[in-house]
Amino acid sequence: MDKIIIHGGKQLSGSIQISGAKNAALTLLPCALLTDEPLTLRNLPRLADIDSFQHLMNQFGVSTAIAGSRPEDFGRVMTLEATRITSNVAPYDLVRKMRASILVLGPMLARMGEAKVSLPGGCAIGNRPIDLHLKVLEALGATIELASGYVRAIAPDGGLPGGRYSFPVVSVGATENALMAAVLASGKSTLHNAAREPEIVDLCNLLVAMGAQIEGIGASDIVIHGVPRLHGATYRVMSDRIEAGSYACAAAITGGDVLLKNACIEEMEATVQAFRDAGLIVEPRGADLYVAADGPLRPVQVTTAPFPGFATDMQAQLMAMLCRADGASVLTETIFENRYMHVPELNRMGANIETSGKTAIVHGVPRLSGAEVMATDLRASMSLVIAGLAAEGETQVHRLYHLDRGYERLEEKLLGAGAQIERVGDD
Ligand code: EPZ
Repeated sequence: MDKIIIHGGKQLSGSIQISGAKNAALTLLPCALLTDEPLTLRNLPRLADIDSFQHLMNQFGVSTAIAGSRPEDFGRVMTLEATRITSNVAPYDLVRKMRASILVLGPMLARMGEAKVSLPGGCAIGNRPIDLHLKVLEALGATIELASGYVRAIAPDGGLPGGRYSFPVVSVGATENALMAAVLASGKSTLHNAAREPEIVDLCNLLVAMGAQIEGIGASDIVIHGVPRLHGATYRVMSDRIEAGSYACAAAITGGDVLLKNACIEEMEATVQAFRDAGLIVEPRGADLYVAADGPLRPVQVTTAPFPGFATDMQAQLMAMLCRADGASVLTETIFENRYMHVPELNRMGANIETSGKTAIVHGVPRLSGAEVMATDLRASMSLVIAGLAAEGETQVHRLYHLDRGYERLEEKLLGAGAQIERVGDD
C-alpha cells in the first residue's frame, strides 16, 4: 500500500489536464455488451476501477485491447468486442471490489435475455440499495429473482417488451441500467424522474451513436424506442467534472490559481456558483476553465442534490476548502447517509467542523496543521489531500487505494502545479 506525503503551504499555480470521467466510463464500458461489433472508447482514465471493469468484461468473454499510448499520455483508448459472450454471470469476488459492476445487469439482460450479478454490498458512504435498478427492469418486462446473494434478471422469450417507470428517487445507476436495457427492447419505454447527470447524457450520446433511438436526452422524462440491434462505435469519454472541481478546491485553498484543461463549465454550474459565492474567480477560457483565489475565502451554504444541483461527489472537497474560509459554512448532504467520514480526519488537522445528521457546520480556522490521516473513501481521501496542501508542515495520507479509484496520476498533476507532494510505499 502506498501513502502520499505533502509539505503544505505552497501556492498552486499552473494548468492541470483533466482526465476522462470515471463515472461516465463505468457506464460506457458495459455498452460493449449491446453489440457484437467493436466499441472503441477514447480518453478512458487510467484508474483502478476501469481496470476492474475491464477484468469483469473479460470474465464475460469480451475481448479488450488497449491501443498504444505512451506512458506520459493521459487516458487510454480501449476497444471492446463482445462477439461471443461466454458467461452472463458477474461473480461475487469481482462485484465486491467494485459496486459499479451492477451496471452490467441491464445490458447483459438486453443482449442475452438473462443476467446474474452478485448483489453489491453497501459501502463506506451508505447502504446503497439497488431496489430501483430491479424495479425499473421489472417495469421493462424482466422477471427478477434474488437468491444466494445474487440477483438474476430474466427477459421473456422474445426479449424485453419495454414499459414505463417513474423513479420515486433520482438514481444515476438505475437510470443507466434502464437505458441500457431499453435500447434493445421490442417496444417503447418511458422513464420519469430519470437522473440528468452529464454522465447520463454521455451514455445516451454513445447509445445513439450505436444506433439507439432516444428522446429527451438530459431531461428527467426520457423515451426510448427499442431497436433490433446496435452497431459498434468510436466514442470519446467526457471530461471528469468532479476531478476538475477537486483541483479547483486544491488551488483555491492554497490561495493560488489553476487552468483546468478540458473542464466544461456547463457540466459544473452548481459547483461554479458555490466557488463564486466563496469569492473565487471562475472564467471559461476556450475549452478550459480558469479558477483563482481572489482574497480570503468566504463562507457559503450548500445542499447536495441530483444534477443540476450541487454534486454530492464534490461535498467533501468543498468542505476541505471551506475549512480556511472567513466564517462558518453550512453543508447539507441529502444523497448519502454516511458521507461525513472525512470530518474527524479534517478536525485532526485543526479544522473546526461540527456535524449533526445531514448537516455539517464548517467554522473557518486561520490555519490547518499537517498530520497523519487515513483515507476512508474516494472523495474523503481527496478532501484530505486538499487540506494537506494548505496545512502547515507535513501531511501523510494513508490507504491510497481509495484515491487511486478516482484520480488519475494525482501526484504528477499536483506536482506540475507547484505542490510539494510525493507517493511512497507505506510499510
Ligand atoms: C453514482 O452512484 C456515482 N457512481 C456516485 O459517485 C454518485 O455519488 C452517485 O451516482 C450520485 O450522484 C457512479 O456513477 C459509478 P444513485 P449510484 O443510484 O448510481 C439511493 C463517486 O464518488 N438508491 O444516484 O450508486 C442511494 O442509496 C461515486 O464517484 C436507492 O435507494 O447513486 C442514494 O441515496 C460515489 N435505491 C441515492 O439513491 C437504488 O436502487 C442516489 O444513488 C439506487 C439508489
